[in-house]
Amino acid sequence: MEINVLFIGDIVGRPGRNLVYRLLSGLYRRYNLDAVIANAENAAGGLGITPRIANELLSRGIDLLTSGNHVWRKKEIFPYLEKSDRLIRPANYPPGVPGKGIAIISVNSKTKIGVLNLEGRTFMRPLDCPFRTALAAIDNMRKETPIIIIDFHAEATSEKVAMGWLLDGKVSAVLGTHTHVQTADEVILPQGTAYITDVGMTGAISSVIGMRKDIALKGFLTQIPQSFKPASGEACLQGVLLTIEASSGRAKRIKRIKDGY
Ligand SMILES: [Fe+2]
Ligand SMILES: [Fe+2]
Repeated sequence: MEINVLFIGDIVGRPGRNLVYRLLSGLYRRYNLDAVIANAENAAGGLGITPRIANELLSRGIDLLTSGNHVWRKKEIFPYLEKSDRLIRPANYPPGVPGKGIAIISVNSKTKIGVLNLEGRTFMRPLDCPFRTALAAIDNMRKETPIIIIDFHAEATSEKVAMGWLLDGKVSAVLGTHTHVQTADEVILPQGTAYITDVGMTGAISSVIGMRKDIALKGFLTQIPQSFKPASGEACLQGVLLTIEASSGRAKRIKRIKDGY
C-alpha cells in the first residue's frame, strides 16, 4: 500500500490561510491524500501562531502543524504547545522549553506517520546539534513506524543537503523549510528518502517572502529594524506531494506543488 502526504510550506498570514482553506478539499481529491502537514510558524500576522489560528488550521483538514524559529513570537501559544500533540516545534531546543519536536499521526488503524521538526544552526541560533538530535529521535520513532517525515527548518542550503545525506535510508523524507523560496532540487535519494532543500511558502505573491515589500525594502535601505506585516493580494500555495510505501517507509515519489495563481 502507498500513502499520499501533502506537506505545505510556511503559511504566511491571512492570505496564506485563506488560500489553504480554498484549495485544500480540491487537493485532497486530486491527489487522493491520506494526510496533510503544514508549517505554521508564520500563520498569525506573518510571525508566530495563536491557539485560535492553530485550531482553525487543524479543523480545516490539516492533520499536523510544524513550526520553526518564529513559533515563539506569540506568547499565548506556549501553553498550547505544552498540551498539543498536533502542533510541534523544533526538537533541538534546550530541555524545559515548551512543546515537543515529535508527533505521530494515525492514517488508519495500521498506518502511522512520525514527524520530526528540527531547526538548523548555520546563520541561526546555536541550538543543540540537529544532526545528532535527528539520529537519536529516529531510533525511537522507528519502533513505532517506518514512515518518518522530517521538517528541517534551516537557512543554509548546505546544512539541509547534508541532513538529507545523513538520513537517506533512515526516513521517508527530509523537507527543508524557512527560506520561503521553493527550490527545484526535489529527488529520491539512493536509499529511498525523498529530499528537497526548501518546499517554499504559502502566502502573498507580490511580497518579500510573504511580507510587505515596502517595509522589507525600507529595512534593507536604512538598516533600521522594521515591524514586518504580511503582504496582501493574490497568494500561492507551495509544498510537496510525497508518495510513500507504507510497509517500508520508502519514498516512491516527490512532486513539487505550486497552486493558486
Ligand atoms: Fe517561515
Ligand atoms: Fe523560519
